[in-house]
Amino acid sequence: MSPLGALLLPAEPSLTDSKERLSMAGTLFRTKSIERLMNDGAATGEGALKRTLGPGALIALGIGAIIGAGLFVRTAAAIADRAGPSVTLAFLVAGLGCTFAGLCYAEFASMIPVAGSAYTYSYATMGELMAWIIGWDLVLEYAVGAATVAIAWSEYLNNVFGFFGVSMPWRLWHSPFQTMPGTGLGDVAAVHGIINIPAIVILFLLTLLLIRGTRESAFVNNLIVITKVTIVLMVIVIGWGFINPANHTPLIPVATTYVTPEGVTHNYGGIMGILGAAGVVFFAFIGFDAVSTTAQEAKNPQRDMPIGILGSLAICTVLYVLFAYVLSGVATVEDFRSTGREASVAFAISKYMTGYAWLAKFVTVAILAGFSSVILVMLLGQSRVFYSMSRDGLVPKIFAETHPVYRTPYKSNMLFFVLTALFAGFIPGDIVGEMTSIGTLFAFILVCAGVWMLRVQRPELKRGFRVPAVPVVSTLGIVVCGAMIYGLGWTNWLRLLAWLAIGLVLYFAYGKKHSLLAKG
Ligand code: ALA
Repeated sequence: MSPLGALLLPAEPSLTDSKERLSMAGTLFRTKSIERLMNDGAATGEGALKRTLGPGALIALGIGAIIGAGLFVRTAAAIADRAGPSVTLAFLVAGLGCTFAGLCYAEFASMIPVAGSAYTYSYATMGELMAWIIGWDLVLEYAVGAATVAIAWSEYLNNVFGFFGVSMPWRLWHSPFQTMPGTGLGDVAAVHGIINIPAIVILFLLTLLLIRGTRESAFVNNLIVITKVTIVLMVIVIGWGFINPANHTPLIPVATTYVTPEGVTHNYGGIMGILGAAGVVFFAFIGFDAVSTTAQEAKNPQRDMPIGILGSLAICTVLYVLFAYVLSGVATVEDFRSTGREASVAFAISKYMTGYAWLAKFVTVAILAGFSSVILVMLLGQSRVFYSMSRDGLVPKIFAETHPVYRTPYKSNMLFFVLTALFAGFIPGDIVGEMTSIGTLFAFILVCAGVWMLRVQRPELKRGFRVPAVPVVSTLGIVVCGAMIYGLGWTNWLRLLAWLAIGLVLYFAYGKKHSLLAKG
């Protein structure tokens, strides 16, 4: 079984028993007991899955899911709109927040190795309403995240066309809310995009792959991981010699504001610039939690889960900080605010790294493959979370209906294709990227809080891995992730609140009434 293949298997236990533990009065806070989770897992045959993943495979899985559009596209946006060269510090802040949250994920994953998502963890700790909120919130992480990467994919696809001297019609790979550079930004003569067709196409193709249940072989997964790490290292090593110190001076720009071509105002420079940029590039770290979804496939989950999660996170943090330092040193902030904003890494190489045109091409092609694997993992994560929620009765059964031949939740896959296509086709990458970040940060905060709560509620449970110094570490996780949410600014807060409000309406209109736990 390949690491990615492991993700394809339905893994979440269903609720079949009325004797669930009610940890607090009131149905909204009813929790699934951890013992029940584990037992149901065994009863549904999960215990019989082959345990094939060692620490190396888990780290590879993590890196495969982590390195993607966050690094190759969102870094430039963070430089342009928020932080200039202090984006390097922003990566450190984001890496720190993820480390705290990652420790908490690791404790959960080592304690509840039959179930793998923040949704399940919160159902066991904070109760149904919170679990529902997390499940709904994870749509931002997985579905909207997949849309973000698909948009980034179309930028680099256009570069591929450029190799042959052609370019795609600009309006057909941009959202109606984007304005073509140099066409009278903000005035009536401005040319707007219509729809991002390539982004929709790649989502469609990968959805078909998922429905077929096509599994990326361990070989392909490892190949993609090696390729991604190789291009990151090449950009760092070769680009280092092309750093222009003027681009790093001052390292932290004076605090001011920057208005994007679309008229959005961001804090630029200073501490707020760094926090905002950290929120933006936080996107680049999303995915390490995917490791926890394979807990039942790990040879020794109690030991290997923390190694997989924290190992992939550590490697990526080091690579990211160095990469951001090089990218912000090679090209200017102005570049990233204009023509270099899209397919930014290939742009910076082509413009400044003389003699390395081949590297720009290699990066472009490799990134297309790398992005595809990230999208696949995210779409998969999405259908898994809704599969679990559906099995628990919180969302309609359609999300758990599997294909008679392929045994994949094909209806769920198709519905999420429609949702992700709407986001990718019509909303700019900046907006969906920041929505993904803020939604995931919120989920991480709840995971940090959940670990702490469970230590108090169920101190006796066996934990293969214990977060050191709880509640200090979980509090730090909450604070750092909270600071990034703060840095993302009020437009993103409003979007998150609106999203959660829609979620609450759906919960009270549907989930609460159909919950299997409630029905007993
Ligand atoms: N971390 C993933 C990426 O950057 C989501 O594409």
